[in-house]
Amino acid sequence: MDGAPDGVIELRDLEVFYGDFRAVKDVTMGFGSKEITALIGPSGCGKSTVLRCLNRMNDLVPGARVQGRVAYHGVDIYEPEVDVIEVRRRIGMVFQKPNPFPKSIFDNVAYGPRVTGMKTDNMDEVVERALRGAALWDEVKDKLKQNAFGLSGGQQQRLCIARAIATSPEVILMDEPCSALDPIATAKIEDLMVELAATYTIIIVTHNMQQAARVSQRTGFFTAEADDMGHRTGRLVEFATTEHIFGNPTDSRTEAYITGRFG
Ligand SMILES: Nc1ncnc2c1ncn2[C@@H]1O[C@H](COP(=O)(O)OP(=O)(O)OP(=O)(O)O)[C@@H](O)[C@H]1O
Ligand SMILES: [Mg+2]
Repeated sequence: MDGAPDGVIELRDLEVFYGDFRAVKDVTMGFGSKEITALIGPSGCGKSTVLRCLNRMNDLVPGARVQGRVAYHGVDIYEPEVDVIEVRRRIGMVFQKPNPFPKSIFDNVAYGPRVTGMKTDNMDEVVERALRGAALWDEVKDKLKQNAFGLSGGQQQRLCIARAIATSPEVILMDEPCSALDPIATAKIEDLMVELAATYTIIIVTHNMQQAARVSQRTGFFTAEADDMGHRTGRLVEFATTEHIFGNPTDSRTEAYITGRFG
């Protein structure tokens, strides 16, 4: 495995259960600062589960239990004294389906700064900066008071990215952010991700191999194999530079997956 990055977030022996069901185990990896890391693998291998551990989103899933270590700048975010709201402010999330709130474009972006009590002299500036950062400003600057549902799917997804960056996070988690979008909107989000990586650490789950290869510096390949009891538990098979994973993977399962012979 090529040198693991000096991680903003480090996972050690991460294991996640839903009730009695062990969804994923043996996940040890680190996410490099201002890098894009892609998580890939067949459906059900635990990519979303792992992603949700990184900002304690699994707290909201009934029955979910996390074991092992999830360290953000060396602090285990599952320690009882950790402020979950602050974790989610610093580690934001963008979901598969654009999910703007039923509010104006302006209020969607201002939402995070307002609820987290961010000190700001001028909310207009905060909103403009986030919308510019999400490459959406020019398309919406004349209709900030309109309902966000009036935007196209691709615009809504960029609005969700604007909403995520409005609270000045360090890390942005994205779970298949382009899967509901057409190729043009997808290309825009991909360009945006590359731009955002100058400022943010990005971790993206994707089923799109070209996308992982195009935008990420590191890739983790997950798969789920049945054990003797027939239980399917996901695990991290290989984690390396994207160049290595797509050019010369070490594990035959990785190779089978990226060449489309599996999953
Ligand atoms: N809320 C939940 N309750 C119970 N089991 C769950 C829950 N969420 C996920 N699982 C199970 O955990 C395993 C991993 O699911 P997960 O959604 O993380 O996979 P994934 O790799 O993201 O798949 P996909 O590519 O289809 O999104 C699956 O077996 C799934 O059925
Ligand atoms: Mg998923």
